[in-house]
Amino acid sequence: MSPETTLVIGGTGKTGRRVVERLAARNLPVRSGSRSSAPPFDWENRSTWLPALRDIGAVYITYHPDLAFPGAAETVGAFAQLAVANGVRRLVLLSGRNESGALRGEQAVRESGAEWTLVRSSFMNQNFNESFWLEPLLHGELAVPAGDVAEPFIDADDIADVVVAALTEDDHLGRLYEVTGPRLLTFSDAVAEISAATGREIHYRPITSEEFRAAMLAEGVPADFAHGLTELFSEVMDGRSAYLSDGVQRALGREPRDFRDYARQTVATGVWSAAGGAAVADAAE
Ligand SMILES: NC(=O)c1ccc[n+]([C@@H]2O[C@H](COP(=O)([O-])OP(=O)(O)OC[C@H]3O[C@@H](n4cnc5c(N)ncnc54)[C@H](OP(=O)(O)O)[C@@H]3O)[C@@H](O)[C@H]2O)c1
Repeated sequence: MSPETTLVIGGTGKTGRRVVERLAARNLPVRSGSRSSAPPFDWENRSTWLPALRDIGAVYITYHPDLAFPGAAETVGAFAQLAVANGVRRLVLLSGRNESGALRGEQAVRESGAEWTLVRSSFMNQNFNESFWLEPLLHGELAVPAGDVAEPFIDADDIADVVVAALTEDDHLGRLYEVTGPRLLTFSDAVAEISAATGREIHYRPITSEEFRAAMLAEGVPADFAHGLTELFSEVMDGRSAYLSDGVQRALGREPRDFRDYARQTVATGVWSAAGGAAVADAAE
């Protein structure tokens, strides 16, 4: 009997892309689900959900933009129920630590009737090179409302390894893995590591939540997104998440990757290079 296809929602995103690559490398059937996939999958358009679920046995769920946003848990719950009603047996959810919205999203998956694994993650390293913190770094300054609160940033490769284990092995069913990197770093520490790895002057500037929201609005970020991200930072960056968890070790029996290794390897890709910074500056003129 051929293995069933896995749907990876956000299959071009930070963890989704890595999960798709890992399943494909093992010749396991996989379908990417996002607005740009065929068929498309859009959290905002429920008519896209059923076509994406056709002949699917397992789903890796990454909600966009974030489980902390209003209505996210209800949407994930509705999707999970539709998935189970249409033959999906296993759900793996990417969740966030110490967020009330993420807890509700987890509960919706627990109650779906599917076999489930919850992967509750700290902030990812790849936010610094594949996401919203890249451009500020290229401009030489990252301004975030995080004060000197420490976060155990985790590598998306480690998350993807845990997710693939949960999708392909039965040992992880009904388990909650709280996954973090091996070291607590403040944003100042993390930016200093990137600055040292690149040899470029890059600084972290702590700002208030209101400054954070205003800066996003000034850049043209949609108001609900700016508001949601501000609320997320206010909720989780108060010190409550400044501790290490052992989910990677429990799921995989190995240590997670250190931020310094991530920074060194990412420098080699050229994504943080001065040329990249110049290109951004040119584009802004
Ligand atoms: N980033 C972190 O540090 C972090 C930490 C802990 C937990 N999480 C959780 O991880 C989840 C994903 O966050 P992320 O930052 O890692 O994002 P991400 O997966 O990198 O987001 C990008 C992906 O989402 C897809 N996407 C965007 N809008 C979509 C929509 N309306 N419908 C379907 N797919 C859509 C994109 O593809 P298209 O453009 O083709 O649609 C792309 O594949 C969130 O729920 C968050 O709570 C994130």
